[in-house]
Amino acid sequence: MWKQSSEIKPSTQYSQTLKYNIRFEQNMDKNALWKSFPELETPRLWLKKMSRKHANELMEFWGDDEVTRYTDFNSFREIQKIEKTINWVNNRFKDKYGIRWGIFLKENSKLIGTCGFNSWITDRGNKSEIGYDLHRKYWRKGYMFESLYKMITYGFQEMKLHRIEADVDPNNMGSQKLLEKLHFTKEGCLRDNGYWKGQYWTTLIYGLLEKEF
Ligand SMILES: CC(C)(COP(=O)(O)OP(=O)(O)OC[C@H]1O[C@@H](n2cnc3c(N)ncnc32)[C@H](O)[C@@H]1OP(=O)(O)O)[C@@H](O)C(=O)NCCC(=O)NCCS
Repeated sequence: MWKQSSEIKPSTQYSQTLKYNIRFEQNMDKNALWKSFPELETPRLWLKKMSRKHANELMEFWGDDEVTRYTDFNSFREIQKIEKTINWVNNRFKDKYGIRWGIFLKENSKLIGTCGFNSWITDRGNKSEIGYDLHRKYWRKGYMFESLYKMITYGFQEMKLHRIEADVDPNNMGSQKLLEKLHFTKEGCLRDNGYWKGQYWTTLIYGLLEKEF
């Protein structure tokens, strides 16, 4: 039966749909891609899995109100809560929901930030939302651009994503400029898009398609 249908010369439109479906079905195998935690390398950085032993280093920036000003979580005050969060993000990877890398300086192995795909939605499309944060001491040195460039390349090439999104606070100019430098498009404004830190927050939605990167 399959042989028969492959003998039919498909119309251009049909063959495009077929190509899309083949690509899309390849995307489905999260298990094969995420059998083990992927490590990514850039000229100055390693993107690697974090563990409980990194809790103190994470506290340096997850406990900094300047870093968490526009994030959907409050600054951490207790190491135990950071340890639980590390477990939580690593379990999300095990369950194939998302991935969060620690960003480590090659020169001294210091953990200076985190970044990742908060979601991986393969139902009727293939897309993901990203998140990131960096120790304040290391801002404006190109580290997050370097990390995200590598991470997004991995997303399009290995995860075969079609679309990557980011939600940003309208006052977070640094993050918006960073996304624009990565060729994201500001697509709109989502009013009262989420509730955290005791209030509703309006966010801007940024999107990047594979063909635009
Ligand atoms: C947003 C953040 C990740 C940027 O990291 P970074 O390593 O300092 O960014 P980079 O140095 O790679 O900057 C890349 C580009 O982004 C822009 N940019 C970054 N920070 C900026 C700032 N504070 N003001 C204006 N532009 C900024 C610049 O265009 C820069 O390119 P350039 O240096 O060639 O001009 C960092 O400020 C941070 O951790 N902020 C707190 C957490 C946060 O807001 N996370 C995002 C939630 S959506």
